[in-house]
Amino acid sequence: MTEQDFILKTYNSNIENGSVKWASPSNIALVKYWGKKKHQIPENPSISFTLSDCKTITEITYTKKQEKGFSFDIYFEGEKHEAFKPKIQTFFERIEIYMPFLKDYHFKIETSNTFPHSSGIASSASGMSAIALCLMSIENKLSVNKSDSEASQDYFNQKASFLARLGSGSACRSIEGELVVWGKNESMVDSSDLYGVKFEGDVHANFNNYQDTILLVDKGEKQVSSTVGHQLMYGHPFAQERFGQAHVNLAKLKAILASGDLNEFIKIVESEALTLHAMMMTSMPYFILMKPNTLEIINKIWAFREKTDSKVCFTLDAGANVHVLYPENEKETVLEFIKKDLTKYCQNEHFICDQIGQGANQIQL
Ligand code: PMV
Repeated sequence: MTEQDFILKTYNSNIENGSVKWASPSNIALVKYWGKKKHQIPENPSISFTLSDCKTITEITYTKKQEKGFSFDIYFEGEKHEAFKPKIQTFFERIEIYMPFLKDYHFKIETSNTFPHSSGIASSASGMSAIALCLMSIENKLSVNKSDSEASQDYFNQKASFLARLGSGSACRSIEGELVVWGKNESMVDSSDLYGVKFEGDVHANFNNYQDTILLVDKGEKQVSSTVGHQLMYGHPFAQERFGQAHVNLAKLKAILASGDLNEFIKIVESEALTLHAMMMTSMPYFILMKPNTLEIINKIWAFREKTDSKVCFTLDAGANVHVLYPENEKETVLEFIKKDLTKYCQNEHFICDQIGQGANQIQL
């Protein structure tokens, strides 16, 4: 697949109006994407668990209009939200070439999250993928003379992921479950820089319903956005080493996912999280997104593992919150440990329980 394959060539512009609705999840990377080329092409491959309950639900109502040009309104949790407009405007401009009907319709975008807005959880992955999926459903309704490949489910998912990527890189890993790989690499033949693909290797039963409890250490706005962070990988002294390491870690993780070796899984996942933050601390300018409580939690997790047989581990996004990952058979003990020893480090003792999920769903209207 190339970019050209995603350009919609003909469509039926007689359709006056309609509505589509999707629920799309967030995802948490095990091997991290940090550093990109133009048009959100990643510098290195990444792999993530798709989440189950942390989702954005988006309905788009489209209405034919006379004059050409972008026209849309955004409602967030029932209220008009002007602050989201510039991001969507940029997104529409980027994807217009692939969806020429965008200028023929007015779009009413109504969106809400299943997780609290002010939780500090990145909603761009679930948010952008939900919009991309709605636009794909609209494209399906308008398109005529589709080739067999364009009419396939694979094409739908690939183009939805391709579009989501242009909204926010990691959003391209939110279309499907349970594990998604993004970025061309030797370990996965179908992998692509343009879109995420379902992980094609074997996955051991140890990873069934893998748990992710998100500890909300800091719900505030991040001091440095991931856009800026990605940029700081240009000319970063350790960049090339890091990009190479991600390829190696992905290959290792593929074998670990098949064997079910949780000790090795922990090593890769925690090292990836700390490497991500090490990149931030060693860029110029340097910055730190972890908070003292992030480190308290990490140390408590290590001490708990030392003391018990637990396979609990942590990973981090570009922020202070901690994702606590553990197998389903440890659900009770780890939750007890979290409640007893870790929630005191969370803002208002707030945490969110989630687990590995199956990807986005269309909601029939
Ligand atoms: O999708 P972006 O541009 O917000 O980048 C997010 C990058 C990380 O969350 C830090 C890592 C990842 O692979 O999701």
